[in-house]
Amino acid sequence: MNKPISIAIDGPSGAGKSTIARVLAKELGYIYVDTGALYRTVGYAVLQRGIDPKDAVAVEALLPNITVSMGYANGEQRVFLNGEDVSAYIRTPEVSMAASTTSAMPPVRRFLFELQQDTARQNNVIMDGRDIGTVVLPFATVKIFLTASAEDRAKRRFLELREKGMDVTYEDVLSDMKERDYNDSHRSAAPLKPAEDAIMVDTSGNTLEESIDILKTLVQKTVKG
Ligand code: DC
Repeated sequence: MNKPISIAIDGPSGAGKSTIARVLAKELGYIYVDTGALYRTVGYAVLQRGIDPKDAVAVEALLPNITVSMGYANGEQRVFLNGEDVSAYIRTPEVSMAASTTSAMPPVRRFLFELQQDTARQNNVIMDGRDIGTVVLPFATVKIFLTASAEDRAKRRFLELREKGMDVTYEDVLSDMKERDYNDSHRSAAPLKPAEDAIMVDTSGNTLEESIDILKTLVQKTVKG
């Protein structure tokens, strides 16, 4: 088989990475890998065991006792903690914050590294996250850094959470988002930053369809040469 194609999409939360990547993966027939869901699974495991997410020693000690894996059902990625599908439990604000804290810890990043890289070595993938173009897939065929203003991203995330029936305010979503942006980009382990060869795309003010079109054109141009 030829070397698989990998498309790395990095950027802060709420920039539209997962929605756009999912649509593009379907159109191209690639596997969509949501790496944030893997970090969320670790964050969920930490909370489930009653561990303080800031307690790096306890978080590291937990890792040998858990397995995180992923699978696909009806084209959707599912994440498993010790073989149990926990996809339904990882999108709460508490798990978001626990994932943001624990993902800054190098042992957590090492723990999830091979799973991500192996998946890209064996399949054509669109993988989204924070360090895909810089750390996980430095050899990616295309690297895109997707961003938007904090207000734009908070608005989208707020509407998404409300649609799921969660009782949140826009102000809380915006302040959580700013806190997570700060954590994600100021940590010493694999901070959120564009790869040198990433294509920068700002989706502020775009509709989803417009953003999808921009990325589709970019990817098609690069993949086809
Ligand atoms: O993309 P998300 O919001 O589902 O990600 C959850 C957390 O995981 C986020 O705070 C940053 C972290 N993360 C990371 O550190 N590296 C990745 N490749 C993906 C996510």
